[in-house]
Amino acid sequence: MKRLLSGMRPTGSLHLGHLVGALENWIKLQEKFNCYYMIADWHALMSEYENPKSLEKNSIEMLADWISCGIDPDKSTIFVQSHVKEHLELDIILSCITPLALLERNPTYKEQLREMKGRNLMTYGFLGYPVLQAADILIYRASVVPVGIDQAAHLELTRELVRKFNNLYGNTFPEPETMLTKASKLLGFDNKKMSKSLNNFIALSDKPEVVKKKVMKMITDPKKIHLDDKGHPDVCNVRSYYNIFNASESEEITRLCREGERGCIKCKERLSEIILEKTEPIRKKRTALLGDKERLLGILKDGNAKARQAALETMKEVRKKIGVFHDL
Ligand code: TRP
Repeated sequence: MKRLLSGMRPTGSLHLGHLVGALENWIKLQEKFNCYYMIADWHALMSEYENPKSLEKNSIEMLADWISCGIDPDKSTIFVQSHVKEHLELDIILSCITPLALLERNPTYKEQLREMKGRNLMTYGFLGYPVLQAADILIYRASVVPVGIDQAAHLELTRELVRKFNNLYGNTFPEPETMLTKASKLLGFDNKKMSKSLNNFIALSDKPEVVKKKVMKMITDPKKIHLDDKGHPDVCNVRSYYNIFNASESEEITRLCREGERGCIKCKERLSEIILEKTEPIRKKRTALLGDKERLLGILKDGNAKARQAALETMKEVRKKIGVFHDL
């Protein structure tokens, strides 16, 4: 099976957007690829360095989220970036061949500088974010990388570095293919893009009361004021949630809304049930897992060891190719 790698930064609670955007895809991919799923804690440190105390806790919680959604440690290698130290070896080598201009004009970098206000990201580390990401991928010679469109530029840089490395030192790495994840159509409950900083999401860890409260806050068609007003489901965020979480009911809901036969409150009450049907088993599993830290740590230890094995093999060859000690 071909190798696949992806990762997430442990910066806080995973939410419905992560579930339908990334995780459901990751879960399916486990059947077709040799998957490496990485907790990107060094990448998180690059933006959270002023307040990194919760990185470990967030990593454990993210692991619990992954597993309770269906990432299976018997099928996939789940590991912590900072514990496979070879990533940083390859990072320093790649940084030698990375033109500064490529990093400075990286659109994701520029966007993050604009978006992550209140943090000083004008650092050497943050500029080099995509170089470490390239190292994450190449150290496993992954041929497929599932990511969202915001990461496409980083994959482009990765391929550029592969060509450069192979040219300079001989064929070593395959060019990884970007497998674009369909953008999640879920907006936050305030109709803005679902995001951690806006705190407008439903977390996988939210208790049922919290889920209900958030769903009841969702914005519907602003022109539908009374229960029997005819609604415009095409502009309604609640309807998009139906489409994703219960497509079979979506058609009927759409008809009732258009004909003014159903009010928004009822529609939302049903939506919160639908969401809870999906998330309650996940939340229960998550709580149980978090009560068994030994098991979670064991999964990471096994994953780290497997990942390290693969990383060491690559580094041995890389060292040989560039001509530094490889067998000392
Ligand atoms: N930069 C990715 C993100 O923010 C996380 C990440 C780090 C990653 N290393 C990676 C994703 C390697 C894919 C491959 O979402």
